[in-house]
Amino acid sequence: MVDTPTRRAVLGAGALVAGSLFGIESSVAQAQLPPTPACRDGEAATLAQTEGPYFKPSSPERIELFEEGMAGQPIELVGFVLSRNCKPISGALLDFWQADGRGQYDNSGFRLRGHQFTDAEGRYRLRSVVPGVYPGRTRHIH
Ligand SMILES: [Fe+2]
Repeated sequence: MVDTPTRRAVLGAGALVAGSLFGIESSVAQAQLPPTPACRDGEAATLAQTEGPYFKPSSPERIELFEEGMAGQPIELVGFVLSRNCKPISGALLDFWQADGRGQYDNSGFRLRGHQFTDAEGRYRLRSVVPGVYPGRTRHIH
């Protein structure tokens, strides 16, 4: 893959968001990161894995994905979005989607899907359920 400036920016933002989820301020995230070196594996094909479910456009704007009677333990996820210079980014669009407590995604509607914007200090807050396990993946929220 070609390392374009756009790709570097996306990777940098992801690292900052991931670090903020765990309350870790990474000095690595503040510096320009070199491109990830290519892996040499003898040109072996990457093993196939289950694809998706995927992002769906036009999710409802909301911070509360939990609905009464929904399977799964309630959870609140908070974090913030920072620039590469560690400045809060207000108005950043965050789109969340996840499986319910039984590991099931809603691919036809917007159950456990929604988007929101960071506040003036770059913060977000999501109320949802702990996602269930489904084959081949650990619990996760997109
Ligand atoms: Fe997933």
